[in-house]
Amino acid sequence: MEIRVAPAELDLSDATLVVGVLEGLQSAPGSEEDFALADEGVMEAAGFEGKVKQTLALPHPEAKTMLLVGMGSEVDFDSVRNASGNAVRAAKTEKVVTRLARIGIDGASRAVTEGSLLGGYEFKEYKSNGGKVKVTEVEIIDGDEEEIAMAATVSRSVTRARDWVNTPAIDLSPSQFADQIAESLDGAGLAVEVWDEARIAEEKLGALMGVAAGSSRPPRLIHATYRPEGAKTHLALIGKGITFDSGGLSIKSASFMEEMKVDMSGAAIVAAAAEAIAHLGIPVAVTVVAPLTDNAVGGNATRPGDVLRPVKGPTIEVLNTDAEGRLILADGLGVASSAEPDLMIDVATLTGAMHVSLGDKVAGYFASDADTADLIRTAASRAGERFWEMPLVHDYRKQLDSNIADMKNVSGSRYGGAITAALFLYEYTDERPWVHMDIAGPAISRETAGDQVKGGTGIGVRTLVEVARRLAED
Ligand code: BES
Ligand code: ZN
Ligand code: ZN
Repeated sequence: MEIRVAPAELDLSDATLVVGVLEGLQSAPGSEEDFALADEGVMEAAGFEGKVKQTLALPHPEAKTMLLVGMGSEVDFDSVRNASGNAVRAAKTEKVVTRLARIGIDGASRAVTEGSLLGGYEFKEYKSNGGKVKVTEVEIIDGDEEEIAMAATVSRSVTRARDWVNTPAIDLSPSQFADQIAESLDGAGLAVEVWDEARIAEEKLGALMGVAAGSSRPPRLIHATYRPEGAKTHLALIGKGITFDSGGLSIKSASFMEEMKVDMSGAAIVAAAAEAIAHLGIPVAVTVVAPLTDNAVGGNATRPGDVLRPVKGPTIEVLNTDAEGRLILADGLGVASSAEPDLMIDVATLTGAMHVSLGDKVAGYFASDADTADLIRTAASRAGERFWEMPLVHDYRKQLDSNIADMKNVSGSRYGGAITAALFLYEYTDERPWVHMDIAGPAISRETAGDQVKGGTGIGVRTLVEVARRLAED
């Protein structure tokens, strides 16, 4: 789908003209002249009230059709983005011309671009009859060219992350995933290394090796660097890349296993964010570390009670092989901290407990200090992604004390599971500024609405790009 600024001379003859409507049938600012042509009786008969998610196609003297899109009661970034997503799915033509960027808010062109590209996203790889979305071009009346280009770059990286998350595990082994990440990061100008099982052993990544031991598909680790001119700050991005989480010997029940191809989302998201940061030329040094492995059941699988040695930091008694994300991240953080970054951010579908805490649509984050927490809060809010700060309750650390090793990988308590997981990771941060994002709930969307489509979401990509922008400004 191409997004561009509409030319001064509009050609609407084969286009859907998108017009914004607020709840109570008020025109959204900037859509007045076309909304005036809408027949009130027809709107009423159709039950169209301008509510979020409602759309209505009506005749228009110049356009093929006029599509009214409900925006609810708010005129803001989120409502423009979501209305744009709903519009591209409802439009029946290849071309859309939209009035939504005339609404008079900051970032309106970005909102329309993101909404169109992300709301119009479809994963068609395994569908015999292709997709449903017709739209191939969106013209934005009074759009801002530069803003559209930047938003399109970020949105394309989000869709790349979504493609990876949606790909079944059978077609995304650690080595296939590594090759695809390498290709994308190489294309964006990063220097990429793919560590194979021999290199992983040589580097003594004992925790990653322990998780990989049960699978016939060997592990990989992505180590990529972006070193632009003029960079004063160094950001390390670490992503959990479990290509399928069966739970290992502490095997999951069938219903919990169903969605577990999603467990490589963290790796997909940090890779996609780094790609966008490099394409945008943001002057920040970036190091990407993504350990990639299955968590499988096999004769060589790590057993409950086994002790693993990550490259640095505490030795780990594995009491539950299903708490594997923290194991591979211990090595991921170890490798990343050796590069001496100014800030480390890990992204992981880490705990069901976080999903229970914040539900399907909100991600949690933990930060090492208040300034870093502020940075994430403001970046996420600017990016339009829902992140909520969780507390690092250091008192709970003693729940991870082990009888025979430095630490065990589960607390043994049902309570505060997302927090004890974060405290586990904290042990491998070298006390550097650090953020842990637990996206277990919103890594996938269970509904299609606005810029969200059922399946992988790529949540975090937009926030990480915004964090990089802010670090470059300091
Ligand atoms: N990959 C899961 C967490 C998860 C849950 C991701 C739901 C996406 C949706 C993780 O590896 C896991 O199994 N965690 C366990 C930890 C427990 C054994 C301490 C969990 O949350 O049950
Ligand atoms: Zn698990
Ligand atoms: Zn997992």
